[in-house]
Amino acid sequence: MRHLLSINDIDKDFAITILDTAHEMARVSEGAVKKLPTLRGKTVVNLFAEDSTRTRISFEAAAKRLSADVINFTAKGSSISKGESLKDTAQTLQALGADAVVIRHPASGAAHQLARGKWISGTVINAGDGTHEHPSQALLDAFTIRKHLRGGKGDLSGVEVAIVGDILHSRVARSNVLLLTKLGAKVTLVAPPTLIPPQAQAWPVTISYDFNSVLPHMDAIIMLRIQQERMSDLYFPSEREYSSLFGIDTERLALTKPHSILMHPGPMNRGLEISAEAADSPQSVVVEQVANGVSIRMAILYLFIAGSQESSNE
Ligand code: ASP
Ligand code: CP
Repeated sequence: MRHLLSINDIDKDFAITILDTAHEMARVSEGAVKKLPTLRGKTVVNLFAEDSTRTRISFEAAAKRLSADVINFTAKGSSISKGESLKDTAQTLQALGADAVVIRHPASGAAHQLARGKWISGTVINAGDGTHEHPSQALLDAFTIRKHLRGGKGDLSGVEVAIVGDILHSRVARSNVLLLTKLGAKVTLVAPPTLIPPQAQAWPVTISYDFNSVLPHMDAIIMLRIQQERMSDLYFPSEREYSSLFGIDTERLALTKPHSILMHPGPMNRGLEISAEAADSPQSVVVEQVANGVSIRMAILYLFIAGSQESSNE
């Protein structure tokens, strides 16, 4: 059974296959008939034990566009809130006959546990586990960058990408570093030292504490949300100081290359890591990222569910 738990589960060629398939899926979504019969008779369960807007809705839309049956399941309103374990929840889903479980969970490693525990027989797709990984977000980010800067083809060789902000708590940053560097992009992390995880020193990236000096060289700038819900300590003196050093606004946008794109996985803290003017500027592709997320998730569901009969990564 093939699972998507981490970007480490896919090699460069397969990552490009996912991007190319998403390109085809986008064409379906733009057409008059938005549905493909590809996953008819398959059941996709969205198991969301942590809040989500974009990921949950886009996996649902993606599964429906491929004609799968979709069961949505959130912690609030389910027996998870009564303390039911992941194992018991998984076995319940197995009894429903899930062909794939898309899981978001506050615990790092939850998706791995679900897959390795063999509590369910279907494909497991990690939709964000703690501070660990968010592979479908990285794939939609790579798709968006490739579309704007590489004409929607090939890899990302030579593309300069900055990932800016709360790297320490960001599963988006971890998955993006793995995927973008695999695809040949050069990645620079920009943050105050307190928000750079110690292990980042060993990642294949450049680390900078000076946003203004990095900006003129970048083709894509990915801003990260300050994840207050994961912060137990004080990581910067004040929001105002953070914004003035690491936030993006129209003044900083003026330092960028004109063709460069401004990205954010969402949800945005407008006025903290990104100003409202920057978020709504012509360089911003934040809303397009969400639309691209549906195409990428269609490609993932198609390749991992329909393709799982022929391939295995276990
Ligand atoms: N939505 C993304 C995530 O779930 C990023 C964020 O929440 O800041 O990881
Ligand atoms: N980017 C992202 O994962 O958004 P949600 O948390 O709203 O799903």
